[in-house]
Amino acid sequence: MSGMIYSEVTRGWTEADRARFSPGHFTHLTETGSTNDDLLARARAGEALPFELISTDYQSKGRGRRGDRWEAARGRNLLFSLALPLESPRETWACLPQLTAALVGRAIEDILGPGHRLGAKWPNDLLYKEKKLAGILVEISLLPRPVAIVGVGINVNLRRDELPDELRDCATSLYEIGECESNRWFLLGLILIGFLTRYPAGILDFSDSLAWVTDRDLLNGRTLRVRSGHDRLTGTAAGIGPGGELLLKLEDGSTREIVSAEEILWK
Ligand code: BTN
Repeated sequence: MSGMIYSEVTRGWTEADRARFSPGHFTHLTETGSTNDDLLARARAGEALPFELISTDYQSKGRGRRGDRWEAARGRNLLFSLALPLESPRETWACLPQLTAALVGRAIEDILGPGHRLGAKWPNDLLYKEKKLAGILVEISLLPRPVAIVGVGINVNLRRDELPDELRDCATSLYEIGECESNRWFLLGLILIGFLTRYPAGILDFSDSLAWVTDRDLLNGRTLRVRSGHDRLTGTAAGIGPGGELLLKLEDGSTREIVSAEEILWK
């Protein structure tokens, strides 16, 4: 199964790209708990290869940000986790969620074609017409050596009636947008080529991805209520900073740099 999907993912690739992402880097599981958990376990055992990837058709314990569950109908969506070695200075790591949003977002826009533009909601949600299309969960394993596990869930062939009632009006899929099925493995190939080309250069020089997310920033100029650690802040979103942080202009005129937030409510 993994071998057949590997051939689809890497169709049309150069030998050099196939050498960096060989069949030994790829595992597809028909079902698992969470691909992030699977790859985190390998990273903690010191076994995760650079650019190793686990994908699945179904997760029974899929995880979203802030401890939320991430559920998806079997076989419909692209669900995967990618291991990236963290060898650059620690201050560059915070750009990784935005780099991922830009690489995944570019690949999705390529599939959708001209005239379709995504929105980006900091830190790394991708939306289409303000409905969620993809979610990203970046987790870091420090020992025995630092590795980022980049988990991505994209609603590809999901039908609206397969969404739970509470998500029907706030989520969408490529199928709902384009009214046709997309090949999950072609999309995965596009995303992976992006990582092979742009990682780690894309966190050492973040300007290109910063421009992409800034152009599509859905929060900019909106009034936000942000919960970040013990802080409860209200202010106006003022873009994304050079290190990937959310800039929030407070009522007293000062600007706060938000590095992580448990909750962002927008008006
Ligand atoms: C979010 O928007 O809250 C992030 C969702 C991330 C979901 C993906 S699906 C593949 C990988 N495995 C997981 O358990 N979560 C991520």
